[in-house]
Amino acid sequence: MRCHRCWLPSAPSWTGCWRRYRNGGGVSWAELGDNARDSQAALNRPWFESALAPALHRWPEVEAVLANEGARIADVGCGAGWSTIALARAYPSAAVIGVDVDAPSIQAANANAEVAGVADRATFRVAQGQSLSEFGAVRCCLRVRVRSRHAAPG
Ligand SMILES: C[S@@+](CC[C@H](N)C(=O)[O-])C[C@H]1O[C@@H](n2cnc3c(N)ncnc32)[C@H](O)[C@@H]1O
Repeated sequence: MRCHRCWLPSAPSWTGCWRRYRNGGGVSWAELGDNARDSQAALNRPWFESALAPALHRWPEVEAVLANEGARIADVGCGAGWSTIALARAYPSAAVIGVDVDAPSIQAANANAEVAGVADRATFRVAQGQSLSEFGAVRCCLRVRVRSRHAAPG
């Protein structure tokens, strides 16, 4: 596991993290560094690949909508795109858009989707989740926000 890569190189920014935890605000990936960004993606990837789709398949109401031709899914705070890719694989008729405020994450997500063979249906944008409507994604059937609460643009 790559946990040590996540936290040890981030140590210099812990003071800033603590201050913002107490006072509000977030810590950007730029402050935490590439190791933290990559480790976060690697840690969550196995769950997305093995459990995200089965979890959604357990909701018949969700399933009925997402299995439709032309369904649209927004993945807010998509990071390196593993959740977006898992959604694209689970719902072959759907178009999935992943958004994240972090440009290097979106760059990685595009590359990962290409390798996964879903780049035609999984697209990515550097954007605030709050601005989905600006690029026509306002009428999505499902908006997923996966573990994006504690990190915010710095
Ligand atoms: C904890 S990471 C999770 C990344 C990915 N979902 C995963 O599980 O690997 C949270 C992500 O949310 C992004 N994020 C935070 N606030 C955001 C916002 N307002 N709009 C879009 N993305 C945001 C961060 O840049 C970060 O990539």
